[in-house]
Amino acid sequence: MTGQPTPKPWIAAIHAYVPGKSRGADGRKLVKLSANENPLGTSPAALAARADATEPSLYPDPDSTALREALGALHGIDPARIVCGTGSGELLTIAASAFAGPGDEVLYVRYGFSLYDIAARRCGATPVVAPDADYGTDVDALLALVTDKTRVVFVANPNNPTGSYLPKRELARLHAGLPSGTLLVLDQAYAEYVAPEEDDGGIELAAHHGNVLVTRTFSKAYGLAGERVGWATGAPALIELLNRIRGPFNINNGAQAVTVAALADQDFVIRSRAHNRAERARFVAAVEALGNHGLRALPSEANFVLVLFEGALGAEAAHDGLAARGYATRWLPGQGLAQGLRITIGTGDQMNDIAAILRELAEKAR
Ligand SMILES: Cc1ncc(COP(=O)(O)O)c(C=O)c1O
Repeated sequence: MTGQPTPKPWIAAIHAYVPGKSRGADGRKLVKLSANENPLGTSPAALAARADATEPSLYPDPDSTALREALGALHGIDPARIVCGTGSGELLTIAASAFAGPGDEVLYVRYGFSLYDIAARRCGATPVVAPDADYGTDVDALLALVTDKTRVVFVANPNNPTGSYLPKRELARLHAGLPSGTLLVLDQAYAEYVAPEEDDGGIELAAHHGNVLVTRTFSKAYGLAGERVGWATGAPALIELLNRIRGPFNINNGAQAVTVAALADQDFVIRSRAHNRAERARFVAAVEALGNHGLRALPSEANFVLVLFEGALGAEAAHDGLAARGYATRWLPGQGLAQGLRITIGTGDQMNDIAAILRELAEKAR
């Protein structure tokens, strides 16, 4: 073929986002515990609203007005300080491109969410990766790497894929150490799984400082990953800027209706959090019982656990063994985590099954 256009070198250097698998190598459908989806499904009230969604021949409300008002009412935020995105992924990406470009730096921790690398490279900025502290976010390590070129700092809290969580005072310390011209993007995709009394104070930080953007999603505790809706809050000037560069009509009719109904059903979110907390604790205890086989569950505040394999059974063999028994989990060698397997918290039966399979595999590997 002749006459192909040349991509920008920073775009050519991007590795595409790798989504969680739902099929085995042989094409068999697997139970999907690889994408941190909600095992309880979706609120019935939200599903009912989906059926009533308006006219597909008409464009949706470009400003997602009813959704922003419902979010504002629930979280005590002026709707003018809220922008919606096609998943929080859209907002993370445009936040980086609004402030960073070639010659600038975008900072985040090692073992952070893989989209941050794509978001940084997509706008031509240089990704800078800070070391972790036993797989967790290390505030001092991040602050030590801030330079006059740092335009954006991404922190997921809880973090994916490690599940680690920075408490409120540590997050405040990170923010206090950043120059006012550096944007702190606090990605709270898993915030609804955190007990309200352990809230990290991110929304409050975003209410009082012009350089904090908090992003959230309907993909996890709300069980609406397929609808692709996220939102962000920050200073009005920040939101106005993101509104200029987000996709027009970025939330479709059905998704607007479904998410408004989902917000009204907080019982579903509370049930999701309670289920996750109980099953995660049970699963972590089951993994800890395999400690003599070198398995270690990292403490998690999210709806998944990163299990480390430091004995005879390796993470790849565990991943393959679970796939052979019908379960898709997330092995992440591309993120420097060849020793880890991220397992989404599923139903009680699924977690019993996973724990039993891991025990069998570990005992065989000795
Ligand atoms: C930390 C984190 N942030 C953001 C997202 C993006 O989610 P969505 O685009 O579905 O809102 C995910 C999805 O897995 C995530 O783990």
